[in-house]
Amino acid sequence: MTTAQPELYRGLMGVHIDTSSISSIKGDQGELVYRGYDINELANKATFEEVAYLLWNDDLPTQAQLDAFKAKLAPLFEIPAPVIEMLKSLPHDIHPMHALRTAVSMLGALDPKAEDVSIEGIQEDAYSMLAKFPTIVAAFSRIRQGLEPVAPDSSLSIAANFLYMRTGEKPTEAATNVMDVALVLHAEHGCNASTFTARSAASSLTDSYGAITAAVASLKGPLHGGANTAVMQALEGIGSVEAVEQYVLDTLGQKGGRVMGFGHRVYTVLDPRAVILRKVSKALSEESGEGKWFEMSLEMERVMDIEMEKKGRAVKPNVDFFSASVYRMLGFPADTYTPIFAVARISGWMAHLLEQYADNRIMRPRLVYEGEFGKTFTPIEERA
Ligand code: CMC
Repeated sequence: MTTAQPELYRGLMGVHIDTSSISSIKGDQGELVYRGYDINELANKATFEEVAYLLWNDDLPTQAQLDAFKAKLAPLFEIPAPVIEMLKSLPHDIHPMHALRTAVSMLGALDPKAEDVSIEGIQEDAYSMLAKFPTIVAAFSRIRQGLEPVAPDSSLSIAANFLYMRTGEKPTEAATNVMDVALVLHAEHGCNASTFTARSAASSLTDSYGAITAAVASLKGPLHGGANTAVMQALEGIGSVEAVEQYVLDTLGQKGGRVMGFGHRVYTVLDPRAVILRKVSKALSEESGEGKWFEMSLEMERVMDIEMEKKGRAVKPNVDFFSASVYRMLGFPADTYTPIFAVARISGWMAHLLEQYADNRIMRPRLVYEGEFGKTFTPIEERA
């Protein structure tokens, strides 16, 4: 008797693993909502701190709630001395996501309350990691240049403090605003690979640092958060607007070729975050004298539209596409783009962990076994 093959959902496409109140994506309408608020409104009107509060609570904070939120974060920006020493001990030429991932794991080892996975315990971890991520990323970016880390200035916003800790100079209001918008746009995005990874790890009731270490590892990949770095590396390699078309044609001509920064599992129309970042990139290109990156991006979008239409597919720019030129014009090296994504996404990851630990069921999907049965065991000395 043969049993029916279970239905396969490769890449978990179309699978809903739980309910959530954190964010909604309507992929056919290009709509992204954080706890009821449209991303367009939040990007224009809310700070990253307000959005982090929103993601961890039911609604936006009152002024008093926001003040209390910031006061709670203020003493947490500093990272422990052993973490700084560990960052100094790493080779300078590694991907900075290795440094962030190792530092998060180490924070867990140094936190005597790491095993507390009560909601109160996870909330404490959330504040601590939201505050420490920018400090870790900025510290490693200086260490690998042979510079000493700059101590955080807790009187600044997270966006301004992050920029300050990289250079040691207080950022302009314009740069801070761009950084803030980028952090808001990258804060949360449903059950993407890294968030699923975090929730899946947490579902065994391991500690939140372990779950976030796994999430950082997942974000690093070029099909996910690593795409922003891959976009800039592609643009740098192409070098000019004129060479973009051939690059796209060559890439699409390769088996399984992917133009980085395009395509999305959920969106079938343009990612609303890409729409906002395209405008930010355009504005920066006019101010910075580095318009080339924006112009090359526009050309890539144009050629992709034509080529994808020929295939009857809608493969549009995603959040990583225009964020690459934005970060470039803010002065960041290409390999720091994914850590910046993590500085934002820690807010969303922790919102999901709060939900997961509050009502947990272990993640335990199955695989369809296609291997053999009925083999006879041969002792090792008799194996050919
Ligand atoms: N370049 C060329 N063709 C593409 C691309 C792309 N970037 N993305 C999708 N397609 C085509 C692909 O060829 C395929 O067509 P066919 O079935 O004829 O081969 C079809 O669209 C479906 O693509 P898929 O890769 O099966 O779709 P998926 O849902 O499994 O993967 C994705 C989604 C984002 C991994 C994929 O679009 C991709 O690899 N994009 C490039 C990497 C990237 O930009 N990642 C960032 C994702 S968004 C933000 C984030 O998570 O960080």
